[in-house]
Amino acid sequence: MALLAETSTGPGPVLVSLQAVQDRFGYVPAEAVSLIADACNVSRADVHGVLTFYADLRTSPPPDVPVRLCAAEACQSVGGRELKRDWERRCGESAELAEATGADEPVFCLGNCALAPAALVGGVLVGRATVEKVESMVRGSLQGSP
Ligand code: FES
Repeated sequence: MALLAETSTGPGPVLVSLQAVQDRFGYVPAEAVSLIADACNVSRADVHGVLTFYADLRTSPPPDVPVRLCAAEACQSVGGRELKRDWERRCGESAELAEATGADEPVFCLGNCALAPAALVGGVLVGRATVEKVESMVRGSLQGSP
């Protein structure tokens, strides 16, 4: 695989290779573990260990519009917990929203504390996030997708 030829010889080759595969495919398919192990000359267990250590590495395709709500202190102090609760409730009411956004994977500080609570909606940073704002962005993304 040409992709791994570039990543398997530099520093931190396993992590860099996993990131390259995820960048290309959106996640790291199970078949990639053996390919990366061979390319980096490490065991499959080594690759699996790195793959499962980093929460940002995915082993399944991402949802259409991933939503990540900040769960760190600054956001919690201005309603982050309530936002998470209300967002989960909203997804429970709408199968379309739940399927499009997948399970909320908490993130700890998005570097947007001054505009807390913060969220990432389809990779876009949102400040002063509300359920209405997040839902509007998700629906807008879905309408814009093919
Ligand atoms: S604590 Fe939420 S963005 Fe920093």
